[in-house]
Amino acid sequence: MAVLSAVTSRSVAAIYEQLQARLGWFAPAAELWYQAELAAQILELKAARNAVILGHNYMEPALFHTVPDYVGDSLELSRRAAATTCELIVFCGVRFMAETAHILNPDKTVLIPALPAGCSLAESITAEDVRQLRARYPGVPVVAYINTYAEVKAEADICCTSGNAVAVVEALRSDTVIFVPDEYLARNVAQETGRHIIVPTRRPRPHDTTVDYQMIGWHGRCEVHERFSVADIHQARQALPDVVVLAHPECAPEVVAAADFAGSTSAMLRFIERHPTGRFLLLTECAMGDNIAAAYPDRELVRMCSIRCRHMNQIRLADTLLALQRTQYVVEVAEPVRSRARQAIERMLAIG
Ligand code: 13P
Ligand code: SF4
Repeated sequence: MAVLSAVTSRSVAAIYEQLQARLGWFAPAAELWYQAELAAQILELKAARNAVILGHNYMEPALFHTVPDYVGDSLELSRRAAATTCELIVFCGVRFMAETAHILNPDKTVLIPALPAGCSLAESITAEDVRQLRARYPGVPVVAYINTYAEVKAEADICCTSGNAVAVVEALRSDTVIFVPDEYLARNVAQETGRHIIVPTRRPRPHDTTVDYQMIGWHGRCEVHERFSVADIHQARQALPDVVVLAHPECAPEVVAAADFAGSTSAMLRFIERHPTGRFLLLTECAMGDNIAAAYPDRELVRMCSIRCRHMNQIRLADTLLALQRTQYVVEVAEPVRSRARQAIERMLAIG
C-alpha cells in the first residue's frame, strides 16, 4: 500500500466518509478505502501540479464522485477545457474528448489516463471519407459530431454534440446538410427537424441525386447504444409499468420513439433532477445510472449493465493517478489540423 503524507491521511478519511455515504450501498468498505487512498493522492498531486480534472458522466462512480473539478457531457466539458487556466488538463473520458480539449486550449498539456480509450463512432470515419462526401455533394455544409477525431473535424464546417445537434442543423439554414458519422443521431435529428435523410452507400447510386432529401448521413454507430432495442423497453414496461425510459440520441430512432425522453447524458441527468420521485430506466452506459443513484438515493434507477462502453470503462482512479505521476498520456493535435478543427468547434460553441 502506498505511503501517504499526514495531510493526505486526513484526506483519505474524509474521502472515505464521502464515498461511504454515496456508494456504501453497493461497494464493500475495503474497496472504498482503497479508492479513497487513490483519490487523496490524486487530489494532492492535482493541486501540486496546477491541474484540472474533467470527468465525463460515464466515469465509474468512485472516480466520478471524488476527483473531477467538473463533470458533464461532451459539450459542457469542451467549454470547461476551453476556459481553464490550469497548466495541465487531465481528461477522464475518451480520446476524441481529450483532443477537443487540446484543440481549444493548445498551450495546456492535455492528458488521457488510458491511451486505448477510443470510440466506435470516431473510428467509423476518416478525413478522406469527408472529402469524398464533399466531392459527391458539392456546396453542402458538413456537420461533424464531436465524437470524431481532429482530422475529421478539420474537414467539417461545424461540430455538434448530442446536446445541441438540432440547434446546429437548424442554425445552418441550409436546404441540405451532411451529418457525420452517427447514422442514428442523424436520423433522430432528421426526425426532430422534419428532414428527409439518406445514408449513401460507398458507391454512388443514380437516384441519390434525384431523391428529395435534406440530410445526408454516414453509417457510423455507437457500439453501446446500437444494442438497445424496443423489446428492451417493452420488457421493462411490462415488469415495471411506471418506469420512465430515457434514451441517448445515439440509440436507434425506433428506440428513441419508444422512450419517454431523449437527450445528452447531462440532459438525462437534468430530467431526473426535475422529477424527484420515480423509477427510471437509462438506455446508456451503465455507470451513469450508478452515479445518479449515488447522488439521489430517493430515485430508483433501473439499469441494463450488460451493455457497457469498453472505452470509457478503461479510465479508473489508478490510471488517473499514474497519469499525474508520469505525465501520461499526452494528447496533442498538430497544426494545421488543430486550427481548422478549432474553427468547426468554435462555430458550434457560438451557437450553444
Ligand atoms: P454526451 O455528449 O451526451 O455526454 O455523449 C457522449 C457519448 O460518447 C455518448 O455515448
Ligand atoms: Fe463512443 Fe459509444 Fe463509448 Fe460514447 S458510449 S464513447 S459513443 S463507443
